[in-house]
Amino acid sequence: MSAPTTPRRVIIDTDPGLDDAVAILYALACGQFEVLGLTTVAGNIGIEASTSNSLRLLAAMARSDVPVRRGAAQPLCRAGEELISIHGEDGMGGLALPAPQAEARGEAVGWLVEQLQSAPAGSVDILALGPLTNIALLVRDHPAVAARIGRLIVMGGAVDEPGNIGARSEYNFATDPEAAQIVLEARLDLTLIPLDVTRRVRVLPAQIASLRSSPAGDLCAEILALYFGSGRASRPLHDPCVMLFAVEPGLFSLDTLRLAVDVSDGPEAGALVRHADGPPIKVAMRVDGPGAIEALRHGLNRAQRSSC
Ligand code: BDR
Ligand code: CA
Repeated sequence: MSAPTTPRRVIIDTDPGLDDAVAILYALACGQFEVLGLTTVAGNIGIEASTSNSLRLLAAMARSDVPVRRGAAQPLCRAGEELISIHGEDGMGGLALPAPQAEARGEAVGWLVEQLQSAPAGSVDILALGPLTNIALLVRDHPAVAARIGRLIVMGGAVDEPGNIGARSEYNFATDPEAAQIVLEARLDLTLIPLDVTRRVRVLPAQIASLRSSPAGDLCAEILALYFGSGRASRPLHDPCVMLFAVEPGLFSLDTLRLAVDVSDGPEAGALVRHADGPPIKVAMRVDGPGAIEALRHGLNRAQRSSC
C-alpha cells in the first residue's frame, strides 16, 4: 500500500447508484481525500432520487457536513432514461438508509464555479461517476474556470471491451454522448476509467464479509449484497475504480489514445471510437484487479484500524 499523503481536495459528481455508493463510502473512509462536496446528476436514477440518495448516504456515515448540490436533471440534448432494472426503483436496490440530515442547497454548476474559483488553480480534483452533463455544462459555459480543475477522473466508455448498454457503448457515455464529447475535447488533465478496467475489478461473494470491520465497511457490505442480487459469481466495481486510481495509480496502466465519441442517433450513441483526429486521452487499459479489491478493503477499514 502507498504511504499516507496529504488528502487531495475532491468533488464527487455522482448518480447513486450502488457502485457510486461504494465509491463514496471509500472516499469518505480512506483518509486520502478531503471531500468538498457531492454534485448530483440524473443517471442511474432521476435527479431527485440521485440527490436524496447522496444525502441519505452522508447521513448514514454521520457526514452531513459534506454539502450536496443538485445538478442536471436531463442530458444536454437527449431524453433521459432511468436504468431502474439494474439499481432498483430507488437507485439503491431498496437499501435502508436514514433520512437526510441536510438539504441540497443551490445548484451544481454554479457551486462548482465557486469552488474552483476560490481555490488555487489545480488544487481541486473532480471524480466523475455518472453521465458527464454537469461537467460538460461547466466546460461549455465556464471554460476558464474548468481549466482550474486539477485532475478529472472519469468512469465511462469502453475501448476494446464490449459495451454494457449497447454492443460498444457504456452507460454513462450513452446517457449523454454530447456531454462526453465536450469533456473529452476540453483538453483538461483527464484520465478515463473505462469498462476495459472496471470489469476486471470484481468482488466475490466470499469477500463481502471481510469488509465488515468499520461503519463504512458494514454499509459497503450491505450495498454489495444488494448489488449481487442472487446467483451471480462476481460483480464489477465500476465507480470505485475512479477513487482507487486516484489513491493507488500504480494498480492501473495507462495508454494515451486518440478517441472520439459517437454522437449519432444510432444504437451505439456514446460509444468510443479510435480516431486519428481525436484528442489524446489518458486511458486506464489494464489493472491489478485483486490488488484493487485489497486496496478497497484497506481503505474502507482504515477508520477502524486506526482507532484500535
Ligand atoms: C456506470 O453506469 C452506472 O450504472 C454505474 O454507476 C457506473 O457509473 C457503469 O457503466
Ligand atoms: Ca455511476
